[in-house]
Amino acid sequence: MFNKRIKIKQLLSQEPDSQEVTVMGWVRSFRNNQFIALNDGSTNNNLQIVAELGKFNEALLKRITTSVSLKVTGLAIPSLGKGQKLEVKANTIEILGDSDAEKYPLQPKKHSLEFLREIAHLRFRTNTFGAVFRVRHALAYAVHHFFNDKGFVYLHTPVITASDAEGAGEMFRVTTLPAGNPPRTEDGSINYKEDFFGRATNLTVSGQLEGELGATALGEIYTFGPTFRAENSNTPRHLAEFWMIEPEMAFCDLEDNINLAEEFIKYIIRYAIEHNREDLEFLAQRLADEEKQLPQDKRSELGLLEKLDFVLNNNFERITYTQAIAILLQSPAYKKKKFQYEVKWGIDMQSEHERYLVEKHFKKPVIVTDYPLGIKAFYMRQNDDGKTVAAMDILAPGIGEIVGGSQREERLDKLEQRMKEMHVPAEELWWYLDTRRFGTVPHAGFGLGFERMVQFVTGMSNIRDAIAFPRTPGSAEF
Ligand code: 4AD
Ligand code: MG
Repeated sequence: MFNKRIKIKQLLSQEPDSQEVTVMGWVRSFRNNQFIALNDGSTNNNLQIVAELGKFNEALLKRITTSVSLKVTGLAIPSLGKGQKLEVKANTIEILGDSDAEKYPLQPKKHSLEFLREIAHLRFRTNTFGAVFRVRHALAYAVHHFFNDKGFVYLHTPVITASDAEGAGEMFRVTTLPAGNPPRTEDGSINYKEDFFGRATNLTVSGQLEGELGATALGEIYTFGPTFRAENSNTPRHLAEFWMIEPEMAFCDLEDNINLAEEFIKYIIRYAIEHNREDLEFLAQRLADEEKQLPQDKRSELGLLEKLDFVLNNNFERITYTQAIAILLQSPAYKKKKFQYEVKWGIDMQSEHERYLVEKHFKKPVIVTDYPLGIKAFYMRQNDDGKTVAAMDILAPGIGEIVGGSQREERLDKLEQRMKEMHVPAEELWWYLDTRRFGTVPHAGFGLGFERMVQFVTGMSNIRDAIAFPRTPGSAEF
């Protein structure tokens, strides 16, 4: 009977009433042949189990080492020890699974995040990753909460697709053709007509295009699923497989879109603070300790929780791309030639530029709108100036771009002309263009990179520590 167990989180929230309880978990430490710190993943707080001296046989006690799994029944009594009001005086201790202490890679000491990445199958058992993944869960739950309350429909867009939604050509091919000797056409290229789907297919880079199909009938939809990019970016903010949330709204313009994005981000942060305060306090302390290693000027001005509170209590700054470039050109950093990349109107801002705006100039999240036409995707709505599009990016301190979105080009002629200019094959996207043919409407949407959001809320500086099993160039272990 496993369902008789009580989770440690729940038990620790109760008054010690000397009733018998059953708990199960993994041993974190065993002191003085008497005190077991047991963790079951429901909270970072360990439960103290007291194995009274003389009550249990020596052979059993010898087997209790770090990471052994136990079933314990005993009485929930007031604790005399520091830091806990309740402990369990064991009546029975059953070992569910032994563990070889010599071989177990996680010792009760501090390990580097790099090392823990190499043992990602075990890192859930550390306090840091326990907290990160509980917070990640809370954020995911909050996403559904937010959109459900607003009447959005959760749409599952396909993972395998024949179209490149972003037109950036960073897709992973999906094929069942033999790698060494694929069938060829007369001109020598691979004959995808003989492939599984009868055409060339890829893993999706974004569910947006299909999302637009849903929104232009259901009104408001959102997706929340894995997306894939074969960009060879080895940075602390890029994954080859990441989760994205993409709401898409009919009868919506750029400003409505921005307002929703800001409200959404604040909502999910608030949800995590309200439901995972202990985990966030732990992560805040971890970050503070980590930053103590850094020189003073590299440390954050605000602690993690203060930063989150600040974000909740202040409006995001809203500027146009043109204003952003003007600020950069006026900046001391530019004048002192501190930027590695060129600054002029028309550039795709590099992360050094975005960070300057967010971390040095405004010191808060910044929403940049109306980017040059030439650096954005084909589907963005063209502004009347003929030079810019109704795009928006949200830049977050320490992260950079966390959201990318736009109002969509709903005018068929303008869209077709832009697709032609950008060599986007209109024949293949006939179904997308149909939404503009049959009752087109102003509509808009955005994509939030979920792992970047997790990074922002947990304070983890590397995106590989915000997802359970990161996929990055050269790495797909586990
Ligand atoms: O700016 P992106 O490329 O926008 C789109 O995909 C649009 N279709 C969204 C939309 O309008 N529906 O990506 C959106 C967000 C980025 O702002 C970033 O947070 C995240 O996705 N992102 C990545 N996160 C981790 N690793 C990567 N390689 C990422 N690429 C984008
Ligand atoms: Mg983007």
